[in-house]
Amino acid sequence: MSKPKGDIKDRKLEHIKIVLEENVEPLPSSFDEYKLPYIALPEIDMSEIDTAIEFFGKQLSFPFIISSMTGGPDKGLTINRNLAEAAEEVGVALGLGSMRVIIRKPESIDSFNVRKYCPSIPLFANVGLVQLNYGFGADEVNRIIDSVEADGIFFHVNPLQEAVQPEGDTNFKDLIPKLEKLISKVNKPIIIKEVGTGIDRETAKRLADIGIEWIDVSGTGGTSWAWVEGYRRQDNLGHLFKAEGISTTDALVSSRDIPGLNLIAGGGVRSGIDMAKGIALGAQLATAAKPLLSCALESTEACIDVLENLKREFIVAMFAVGAQNLSDLAKVELQARN
Ligand SMILES: Cc1cc2nc3c(=O)[nH]c(=O)nc-3n(C[C@H](O)[C@H](O)[C@H](O)COP(=O)(O)O)c2cc1C
Repeated sequence: MSKPKGDIKDRKLEHIKIVLEENVEPLPSSFDEYKLPYIALPEIDMSEIDTAIEFFGKQLSFPFIISSMTGGPDKGLTINRNLAEAAEEVGVALGLGSMRVIIRKPESIDSFNVRKYCPSIPLFANVGLVQLNYGFGADEVNRIIDSVEADGIFFHVNPLQEAVQPEGDTNFKDLIPKLEKLISKVNKPIIIKEVGTGIDRETAKRLADIGIEWIDVSGTGGTSWAWVEGYRRQDNLGHLFKAEGISTTDALVSSRDIPGLNLIAGGGVRSGIDMAKGIALGAQLATAAKPLLSCALESTEACIDVLENLKREFIVAMFAVGAQNLSDLAKVELQARN
């Protein structure tokens, strides 16, 4: 039995509680299927490894984006401000959580409005692509982007999550032609992301064909949103679908040769080793959500620690494969772990 339509605020709070308190990761990270090819004499100085990258015209200290999480409810401002200050300090990009709520409740903008805490990093707005079938058009999208002075917008595609969500929006008809018409009317670049179920090659190709240049494949191996939504239902639907989808590494490998398309490795990135493997498998940057949730509720300093650890692990992974910079890392051939 599905619950009746609830308030977005309650739903977001339930999501945070479930992600923090329940098992929401049904599969091992797909990065574990690969090994870094260890080089016993890397012939480089670890202190000279260059991890910097330019992303949307801004400089990052290493190729990482804090993946879209929440906003809106009471804890939204705490989460977003802590993440924004930490992202600015360490030099990584930040994706905000879904901002659909601000069209209906303009006062909820306060919890997303964190540009003042992160003036120099790429900041991204977020909304579900399916909202193009529920009243959203270029005006609403531009309003969302402008309201937080974002450098771009993540549109999430999440059919399985919406199908399991008791109050989900499941009309996914004609979204590709609608997106194609929208692109030229939106003031900033668009990135398409999944939420942990993966983007298949056919979809990636169709997105590239209409002019999308960036996708975050966000595959299986990390947080399962079918499972998270499943905890909010009385029946077995979410449990049944919890491990369905395309793994992050399969999604990267299957779409990495699509001309004009840049990939972001998301879904199950839990260490700097996973980040390095994602880049060796064809991504330009990596992203993660769940590992940043509890520190985001705690403090800016706790988030800085998580990000600095990730960066340190990433540098050690690069050193172990003899990669002096990101283009060396991109050329590394991973080995299957038997
Ligand atoms: C608490 C939480 C809230 C999230 N909210 C959003 C959201 O509003 N919009 C979105 O595109 N993705 C959202 N996600 C999905 C993440 O951005 C990410 O794609 C997914 O969790 C897989 O990454 P992970 O395995 O590192 O958690 C959320 C994730 C978490 C953990």
